[in-house]
Amino acid sequence: MAKLEEVETKLLEAALKGMQKARVLVSFSVGAAVLGEDGKTYGGCNIESWISGLGICAERAAINHAVLHGNGKIREVALVINTAHNGEPRPCGACLQHISDFAENPQTKIIMAKADNKKVLFGTVQVKTLEELLPFPFRK
Ligand code: THU
Repeated sequence: MAKLEEVETKLLEAALKGMQKARVLVSFSVGAAVLGEDGKTYGGCNIESWISGLGICAERAAINHAVLHGNGKIREVALVINTAHNGEPRPCGACLQHISDFAENPQTKIIMAKADNKKVLFGTVQVKTLEELLPFPFRK
């Protein structure tokens, strides 16, 4: 099991709260939370639409939430995916790019775990850096 700092446990718990708010029409719930440069935690959830492509992922919703509160940078990201989904919890490519656009640096940690409706499954936690998951980000 990955060793977590207190702030990371808090981020996963906030991501779970986000996941509980997910608007799921066709797939499964995802929650995310980011630590803003202001030291506060901002949650997000996936919001699906009946129009394909209109929905938003939990990670981007969480980052947009932090930006709305004045954060130009994020220090860390956590996401949880409901056990209804069999795959590994991972940010998608679009979310990795959005994380990269706002991350303090390429070593920014991404904490990933599965969760049931009530709790984070801490035994499933994986921790990677942004550069491990997105080694060649797009830059202007
Ligand atoms: N999803 C996320 O919220 N984050 C990701 O990084 C991957 C996918 C959501 C979008 C959609 O509502 C559902 O998971 C299936 O793709």
